[in-house]
Order: sequence, then C-alpha cells, then structure tokens
Amino acid sequence: DWTPKHFIETTVAAIREKVGNGRAICALSGGVDSSVAAVLVHKAIGDRLTCVFVDNGVLRKNEFFKVQENLRSKLGLNLVAVDASGRFLSKLAGVTDPETKRKTIGREFIEVFDDEASRIFKEGTDEVAWLVQGTLYPDVIESSSVKGPSQTIKSHHNVGGLPEDMKLKLIEPLRDLFKDEVRRIGRDLGMPSDILERQPFPGPGLAVRILGEVTPERVALLQEADDIVVTEIKKAGLYQQIWQSFAVLLPVKSVGVMGDQRTYAYTCAIRAVHSEDGMTADWVPLPYEVLKTISSRIVNEISGINRVVYDITSKPPGTIEWE
Ligand code: XMP
Repeated sequence: DWTPKHFIETTVAAIREKVGNGRAICALSGGVDSSVAAVLVHKAIGDRLTCVFVDNGVLRKNEFFKVQENLRSKLGLNLVAVDASGRFLSKLAGVTDPETKRKTIGREFIEVFDDEASRIFKEGTDEVAWLVQGTLYPDVIESSSVKGPSQTIKSHHNVGGLPEDMKLKLIEPLRDLFKDEVRRIGRDLGMPSDILERQPFPGPGLAVRILGEVTPERVALLQEADDIVVTEIKKAGLYQQIWQSFAVLLPVKSVGVMGDQRTYAYTCAIRAVHSEDGMTADWVPLPYEVLKTISSRIVNEISGINRVVYDITSKPPGTIEWE
C-alpha cells in the first residue's frame, strides 16, 4: 500500500544510490513541488544538494525573505539566494507583449541559474552533476502527449526550459505523484504549512498580472495590493479552498476623490477562482464582506490605486491570469 512514509524511505534510498558521490542542484520557487523535491534529495545526499532561489523582481511582497527563512532556517537546505531583480526589471523595461515578457523572464532565469550552476559545479570534481526538478505526474502527461489549452496558448516554464548545454542528469522524485500526494509527503517530512498550502504562483510572477509594461513602481503597487488580497482571504479562512486568489494591476487611470482631493490613479482587479488543475476554472463568489474589506483597504492604503473591480469571468473563455 502507498503511504507517505514508505514513499519517502524508498525514494530517499533510490536517490542516494543513484547520485552516489555526485552533487545536485535545484531551482526553488518557494512553492510546494520544488520544495518537497528538494527536501527529499537533501535527506538523501545532504549538503551536496545546492538549492538556488532567484529574486526575479516580480515576486510577491517580502517573498524573497520569507522563502529564504522557510528553506534555510526551517528546512535546513543549503540555499543560494540570488537577488537578480535589477537585471530582470531592466530587461523587462519597455516590454508590453505577454509572451515576450514570459520569454524575457525565462531567458534571464536560465542565464542566472546557469551562472550559479557553473560556479557550484566548478568547485567539485564530480563526473556527474544532477538537476532536481519537482515535475508531477500531470506535468509529465501534459508535456509528453496532449497539450492543454494553457500550454499551447501561453508558454510555461515549469517543465524543461533549462540550459541544454549544461549536461545535467535529471532527478524527478515526484514524477509519479499528484499534488495532493505531494502535500501528504511534505506533511510527513514536517514541512511548514505555508509552503504546503500555498496557492500556485506562475513562474513569471507579477509580470503577467501587470498589464502592459512592468515597471518597478507598478510592481511595488501590485505587491501591496496582492498582499492585502492574500491576507484578507486567509483571515476569512478561505485561502485553502480557493485555487488561486490575487490582484491584477490595470494601468488605466480613472478619477476618484480622497478627502477633498481629486485623485487620478490606477485600477486594480481582484481575481479568485476554483479549479482542479488550472485547465478550467470557475470564478469564486467571495463574500461581500471580504470584498468590501479588500476594496477599502486597497484604496485607502495604496496611493496610486483608487478603484477596485471584481473579475467574474470563468475559464474558458477567460484565462486565470490576465496575460
Ligand atoms: P491560465 O492563465 O493559462 O493559467 O488560465 C493556468 C494556470 O497556469 C498558471 N500560469 C503559469 N505558470 N508560468 C507558470 O509557471 C506561466 O507562464 C504561467 N501562465 C499561467 C496560472 O497561474 C494558472 O495556475
């Protein structure tokens, strides 16, 4: 019978045997899959696994620090945190097309990761270098045969997309698993619930939630709005029942009034969807009280946003992200 305990024991033993005296590297996102994969490999080979976490400039508010705290202090992973936000944001300047944003971020990520990998593997004399990926069973299916609508319409960077000349051999300890099994394993490994229960967050991050050009000012505004949305949804006890809930920054200015001042500022859209796998989704009828708190906090606390709207589009025909 399948149990998390049995899975962990056999997987850790298999990784230990496979890697031998070699070393491994892993790109972490702070999400469930890559973190569980890293913890399993770390159990097998200890600090011969190096994890790399990159600040691409479009993470959530405080995410760069929170993830480091979780992975390094709570999970004891050997972690290299690279603040490359400046590099990413300067490459994103002037880019407005959604797919070009994704490609720009994907390309830059590979460069940053490649630099780190060559640094890490140069030190050792290992013949084989391993790359750990948190690929799940549904990712395997999707990328091998039938491509779902989101894969063909938007380019994703979860599977593959790593340097081809890097000559890394793959370790994918979660290849046979579904998300709920990965969470059970994570729980058994004693991982913190804020990693295990985290809603999916796209690789290109807030860049696909800022329509049009991504600028440091817009990122800062959206980080604040996103933080309010997540905080209030958690406070209402709804976070874990919702597939994704977030804010989108619309660089459309409209007129408002604040005290006796006229304002002219951006609009923010709130999006919350139920979904099984991201392929289809239904918009969530969030309680009016929650919407009311989110809206009033955003317009009162964030100067730069003076209007909040609620997205009531399901997928299809809408997509979950706005870009
Ligand atoms: P859409 O917007 O296509 O999103 O309905 C479906 C799911 O995929 C996520 N998503 C991405 N994830 N890189 C990712 O890693 C991307 O470029 C990307 N685009 C969308 C989205 O958050 C949702 O869960």
